[in-house]
Parts: sequence; structure tokens; C-alpha cells
Amino acid sequence: MNKVIGKPINRVDGKLKVTGGAHYTADMPVENLTYGVLIESTIAKGKITKLETTAAETAPGVLAVITYRNVPKFNQITFFPGGQSLPILQDENIYYQGQHIGIVVAKTLEQAQYAATLVKVEYQTEQPTIDIDEALQQGYYPEKIFGGMLPAHIFRGDITSGHSQAEVLVEQTYSTPMENHNPIEPSATLAVWEDDYLTLYETTQGVCSAQGAMAKVFDIPPENIRVISEFLGGGFGCKAFVWPHAILATLAARYVKHPVKLVLTRAQMYTSVGYRAPTKQHLTLGATKDGKLTLIKHIGETITSPFDEFTEPVTKATKMMYSCPNVDTKYRLGRINASTPTFMRAPGEAPGMFALESAMDELSYALELDPIELRIRNHADVEPATGHPWSSKSLKECYHRGAEIFGWKHRNPKPRSMSDGESLIGWGMASATFPAGSFPATAKVTIYNSGEILVESATHDLGTGTYTVMTQVAAEVLGVSLEKVEFKLGDTKLPKAPVTGNSTTASSVGTAVQAAATKVRSKVVEMAISDSDSPLYQAKPEEVIFESGKLLLKNNPAVGESYQEVLTRHGLENIEAVGDNASKQQQQEYAKHSFGGIFVEVRIERLLGEVRVTRCVGVYGAGRILNAKTARSQMIGGITWGIGMALMEHTVMSPHYGRILNHNLSDYLIPVQLDVPDIQVQFVEEEDPYVNALGTKGIGELSIVGVAGAIANAVYHATGKRIRDLPITPDKLG
Ligand code: MOS
Repeated sequence: MNKVIGKPINRVDGKLKVTGGAHYTADMPVENLTYGVLIESTIAKGKITKLETTAAETAPGVLAVITYRNVPKFNQITFFPGGQSLPILQDENIYYQGQHIGIVVAKTLEQAQYAATLVKVEYQTEQPTIDIDEALQQGYYPEKIFGGMLPAHIFRGDITSGHSQAEVLVEQTYSTPMENHNPIEPSATLAVWEDDYLTLYETTQGVCSAQGAMAKVFDIPPENIRVISEFLGGGFGCKAFVWPHAILATLAARYVKHPVKLVLTRAQMYTSVGYRAPTKQHLTLGATKDGKLTLIKHIGETITSPFDEFTEPVTKATKMMYSCPNVDTKYRLGRINASTPTFMRAPGEAPGMFALESAMDELSYALELDPIELRIRNHADVEPATGHPWSSKSLKECYHRGAEIFGWKHRNPKPRSMSDGESLIGWGMASATFPAGSFPATAKVTIYNSGEILVESATHDLGTGTYTVMTQVAAEVLGVSLEKVEFKLGDTKLPKAPVTGNSTTASSVGTAVQAAATKVRSKVVEMAISDSDSPLYQAKPEEVIFESGKLLLKNNPAVGESYQEVLTRHGLENIEAVGDNASKQQQQEYAKHSFGGIFVEVRIERLLGEVRVTRCVGVYGAGRILNAKTARSQMIGGITWGIGMALMEHTVMSPHYGRILNHNLSDYLIPVQLDVPDIQVQFVEEEDPYVNALGTKGIGELSIVGVAGAIANAVYHATGKRIRDLPITPDKLG
């Protein structure tokens, strides 16, 4: 049997990566390359009063200095598919520190960097708004959130009656800081124009949407633009849109008539490609004495830029996580002098479930009820807002199995009851969830008479394993070995695929690959069974199975022939089929979510208040897992990020100048090897016939959800101190 879906297959692109054969955007070999360096505003609000570029323009190697004064005409991009809608280089106005006010292009990177230092800018400054509370005072209640995608106010039942039924109330405010994406590969653009044709090597999670965006910006047909992104060193949301720097590099390339390469510095990553907005979340939980929720109220306060609505959707999970008749969620949004925030791994759920799962833990203490038991008593057997059944759900099994592996039954619930020498020990848990979505996708599968299989789709591999899992899907459907299959992605020349985001790629593209492979093998079957020279002549299609690169008779596997034999006899070099993921998308009567339970142990030094996560168990129900190894790896990555979110990550802006003070990896702390304990990840086997033809629900974003809540709960258990403001740094425990 060739069953390879689910197996812990090594990455098919692993060798390319470790041998340097994988071409990342900034490494693409392009001739006559010139180099772009951005000029950025050093103030957060005001106007440019003087802009002196002559010295830069006449510096060695410089081809152009482009500012609002000499920028060629182009169409401004709007929010979605642009990361932000601020007009680029149009006037002297400054809205945030780090705003791009020009680009220098020179023959070498060093010449461009030097020339950029010669540009003299003077400003008239105004007092920026940086503080979230100040911004919220002048804030508003948005009607739509998440860039207009979701309604802001979602409610059911009656909050007043929920209050009157409540015998126990938890009413608290939880806050999370501004956080920045730190993929190992910074964003890069390499733009090559030939007349009106553009080849764009771009660090993007969406080649097709980048193509559409650039077509609008430069007023040329999308067919004139080819966007290529073969490998990404992480994305996490910050590469989902076309951001201003990419447009600047592309227009500069057209202006200087040379290919231009622009690579953001690590510091520029903090102001150029979005971030996770800080949140303040007011949460009220009401419950009866036996632990049944009577009310959930969740008000999300957050900020956006001066010019776009992007609202971190912190209540996304609140409305569906637990069975509760009375729920009210809404938002208040303020504007600060910063760029537009954007998607960051599990946008909404990551900060939102920190608040909800902390509050559930507080409620469990108020009720003197085990936190798992409280969650089980409020388990949503159906989707609580709509009453729809779940396509699949193993959350209870996740809790039980996680508790068992972790040894939860040995926990003394009393705070400060567990210690080891000078260390306090705490155990905490939380739930995780993320929607199991999909977007329209297509793929093409070609079988060659050499026996090689080519699978193509304009999707992406952010490091997650797309190359590998798509290879597995095609190999399994066709019954061929993995080595025979090549998967190509990241190129607009390939069949259309959506942005790789929202944890949908395995589902969307995987289903399309499955459909295309099924179609093409049917074509070969048809040729064989209608051909008197074939050993399969006059067999029925359903009698044919696919193994070892062959079409075989199910009842007599000694009879059959290879794909090559069929194609060669018919004089065909190859045969192909295109498939999509349209078929099962209409199953709207099912609610589709992945779920999980996460358990952590922390060890806290009594004197220093330093928190270390020493054990971690995550059990998830996420539909069919396509590759046990890459899936586990992805979960470990997301849980690790959750540890960083809980204990370290925090973008600090200076309150007066609006400058990001820790825009580097030595001051913006993320977990390093020694911060990460042994993380045990298990998946509950789920067969989900409703979610899509493959049965996958997606895992990428699920992995970070709940981790910060579980850690905060463990910190409370260890210390008796409830920290409601992330990150949990030693000063807060002192
Ligand atoms: Mo994900 S935050 O949709 O890249």
C-alpha cells in the first residue's frame, strides 16, 4: 500500500534548504541589480518642512532619490490587498515614526545606505497620540472589525437576565501589549521590469493577490505581472498583504530602469509590515453555583492607525467557545500614531483566549471547581450562536488525554501549595480553538510518460511543510512513490491559489490537489479500460486501484499496468487535469473549528520572580493530520511563540516620540532554546466528513491559542498572584 498521508515524512525540500539550494526572495540571482534603501520619518506626527536631497543624488553610484517631490504617478493602494491605505509619497504629512518618505537607489547596497544618510529632512512636529488610554478616550465603537470582515457587535440572549441568574461573577480587565512579527526572513522585494512587464520576487503569502494589487498600482493588466515566492522564512501574517515598501521598490525599479532589490532591516520590520495591536479586554463571566455560565460579556478595546480600521478581533472565540445563553461582545477602537496593525498568528484568538481562559480560571477558583470540570460543564455540544452541529469536535478527549499525560490529577488546586526548594511550582491549563476555514483554490496534476508527476498550485510554503504535504496527497491519490512527485508553488504562472493565511492551506490547496490527482488518474483509467491492448480492458473504473505507480485490478492485483505504459501506447507525452476545492464548500450547516487543550507547568524563583515553563502538553483535535512530523513541528513552534507571548514579547513605544525602542532581537525578547521545555503534542484522531474532502481542519494558528492563558493560570497557581497584563515579567510578580 502507498498510504503516505499522515506519515511523519521528512520535508521534501529539506535537502534544498540545508544545502543552500532553496532560493529565498533576496537570494534570487538577477543581473544588473541595483539596491534600494528607504528613508523614514524620524517623527511620529507633523509635516516635512525641508527636504534636501542634492547631496544624496550626487553621491557615488546613486541612480535616484525618490520622494514626494519627484515620485512618478501611480495608483494608491487601499487597505486589503494593501496592508494599509496611507497614500505613499504624496505630500509632506507624517502620521507615524518610520513612515517611508523616500527611497534611494544606487549601484551597491553600501552606496545606497551612505546616500540615504545624506538626505536632510526637517520637520514641524506635533504631539503624537501613542498611549492606548488616551487614544481610547477619543475612540469610537466600530460597526465592523477586522478590516471590515466581521460585525463588531455580536450578542445573543439577554445580558440582564444573565446577570440576575448569576450566583458568582468574575469581572476583570486583561491586557496584552503591542507585539511584532519576527519571521527569520525579513520582507524583501526584488522588482524586474521589461517594458511594461513586471517580474516581482516578493516575500509574500499571496502571489496572486500581490499580482492583483500591483496591477492596480501600476495600471497594467495582471497578465503582465509575474509574482514569485518559492520559499518563505516565516510569514505569520506580516507577509499577507502588499505593504508600501514593496510598492516603493517596484516603482523605483521602473524609474531607474534597472532591477531593484529592497530588503527590510530588522528594525524596519517593526514599522513596515504591521503588528499585533495592544488590547484591553473587559470581561465579565457570570455562573450559577454549579458552574453553569449564565453570561459572558467581552468588550475589546484596541487601537489602529490614523487612517485605517483594523481591529484585532479579540472576541472571535468568545462567542463560540462555551455554551452560554447570554453573550455580548463589542469593541472600542482608538487611533494612535503608528502604522496599520495586521494579522498576526491567530489574530483575535491569541489575545482573546488569553483573557477568556484567564477569566475561566478565575471563575473556577471562585466556584472551587476544577478548571477542566468547569470547561466540561460549559462544553458547547453544538455551535452556541447558531445551534449548528460541529463538523467534528474532540475537545473533551483533548482535555482528558492532556490531563492524563500531564498528570493533572496530582495537582493540589490551592495556590502556593506546590514547591521545589526555592522554586514555586504551578500547573495551569486552557482551551484552544481556531476556525477550520478554506478559500477557493486550484491545482494541476500532470503525469508524464516518464512516470514523473508534476503538481502545481500558486500557493506558498511559509516553512510549514506545504511542499511536503501536497506531495503526499498527490502520491497517495495516484499510488506512486513520493520521489516521483514534484510540487511547484509560489508563482502566478501556476493555477490560482489564495493567500496562505487563516490556517487554510492544507484544506484549500490540499483538497484541490486531491481533486486534480483524482481527475487525472480517472482519465488514465478511462484510456486503459477502453483499450483492448490494456490488461485492464473492459474493467469498471471502480475496480481499479492505484499502487506502486500502477493501475491494478482490485480483485486481482497481479493484473495491471503503469501510467507510463498507458500514456506511451496512446502516444501521449503527458496527461493533465486541473482540480479545485469547490465540491464540499457548501456544507454550511456544520460549524467547523479545531480545538485543543493545553497544560503547562511553571517554575518560579521565589526571590526573583523569574518564570520558566518546565513542562507543556498540548492535545488537539484538528481533523486529519497530513504529516505527523511537520504538524508536530508546527504545533511546537506555535506553543513556543505562546511562551514568548506569555513571558517576554512586548513592543515598547516611547510615549513622547512614538519611536519603537526595542526594534531588534536583543531587546524584543522571544524564547530561545533554553526557554523552551519539552513540549508534548498529540492529535486526537478525527474523521471529519463535512469539513472538506480531505478532512483537514488546519493547525497553524491553533498552536498559539490558549498558551498564554495556561501559563498565566499556572503562575497564579504557583504564586497566588493573578497577572492580567502580558507579558508576565518578574517586576509584575515582585
Ligand atoms: Mo495568518 S495571521 O492568517 O498568516
